[in-house]
Amino acid sequence: MLRLSRRNLMIGGAGLAGVAILMSKPGDESGPRDPYFLAMQAALAEAGIASPTLVIDKTRLNANIDTLMGHLPAGMAYRIVAKSLPSLNLIAHIRQRAGTNRLMTFNQPMLNALSRAMPDADQLLGKPLPAASAHNYFTALAPEDAPAAANIQWLIDTPKRLDQYRELARSTGQTFRINLELDVGLHRGGFEAGEAFKAALETIRSAPELSLSGLMGYEPHLAALPETLGWRERAKSGAWRRYSEALAQVADVFGADAVSGLVRNAAGSPTYRYYQDTDIASEISAGSCLVKPTHFDTPLLEPHQPASFIATPVIKTMDKTRLPGLEFAADGQRTWDPNVSKTVFTYGGNWMADPVDPPGLSYNKTFGRSSNQEMLTGGHNLVIAPDDFVFYRPHQSEAVFLQFGDIAVYEEGRITQRWPVFEASA
Ligand SMILES: Cc1ncc(COP(=O)(O)O)c(C=O)c1O
Repeated sequence: MLRLSRRNLMIGGAGLAGVAILMSKPGDESGPRDPYFLAMQAALAEAGIASPTLVIDKTRLNANIDTLMGHLPAGMAYRIVAKSLPSLNLIAHIRQRAGTNRLMTFNQPMLNALSRAMPDADQLLGKPLPAASAHNYFTALAPEDAPAAANIQWLIDTPKRLDQYRELARSTGQTFRINLELDVGLHRGGFEAGEAFKAALETIRSAPELSLSGLMGYEPHLAALPETLGWRERAKSGAWRRYSEALAQVADVFGADAVSGLVRNAAGSPTYRYYQDTDIASEISAGSCLVKPTHFDTPLLEPHQPASFIATPVIKTMDKTRLPGLEFAADGQRTWDPNVSKTVFTYGGNWMADPVDPPGLSYNKTFGRSSNQEMLTGGHNLVIAPDDFVFYRPHQSEAVFLQFGDIAVYEEGRITQRWPVFEASA
């Protein structure tokens, strides 16, 4: 019969704790390089690129565009989210391949740049700009680009902003196309069906310098909600109910026929696949899923492939990891965690991105991040030399893409083009 003594229990407990600690000992994550990245590295070297560079794989980009278009139900239009694809050439390529004329634009300099380069594009503002910013758009608009202004849908979120835009429309002698932002559950502002929404609709109906072009109901929160106990489904039907109520109110004020002509915008990358008919939305907007930064690694976006990478040359490699003032601890650290066996310092760093190749590289928490020469540590099987490239996947595209100058376009083993990016502005 088993007799439990306090002493035996303590020994057993200590043993179990030891096993648990050993089981949590990190394994070596390093290994051979991915041939995909070795080929990209050769292309960069052949192109004479030797500084941190944002690379887009055009073959994967094209596949992502086709995947997106293939998911859209009959009659659903696609709007390109310009801020997530912040390069005129990139947008022009997507426009052409997807056969769309619709852009979603997010700031005044971008609005001016797109009016200049693509005057025929229909630009829907993705956030309501201060009226003064809209005024600055007209000031910066070259006379020969003036027709582009008629293709803008100004996004309006409050009765006050609607009044400000009516004043601006009067002063510029233009008719403004107004798109009303709806709050369908994100609670980032916008109208809900009700008195204020009705008043806004009536203001638009009675103002000769305003016309109602559509509604926008963005709902990225849906993809973030748990599916447990129908939570996400409830939020989704709640969003669509709010959208339908707003549409019913438009029909009350403008007549039922007016609704069919409206631009009914919805979605973003994480949610566009929820729209399997055009009952609510007549168009979806998406951008990030075409280049797929890591924040878009979601089950619904699984058919999309990562198509954008940061490539940066290695400046120095070391067969040891030594931390300043902690040299005595190096052997112990490596024995515990093989992933701090070797070190590389890269050209630049501190980007919103995760290293992906060579495998097993990670930032060093003790050494910290650096925008100048960043330290990455890796395991015993890390093989990389100075001037080779380390590859990262950006977390998001909109800000990260603007940090590297012209995008390097990679196609069939070569860098075939360089695409300038937008100027960085909020
Ligand atoms: C209004 C609006 N629609 C759509 C999007 C979707 O963009 P993405 O597909 O890049 O996530 C955004 C992103 O911020 C947005 O603000």
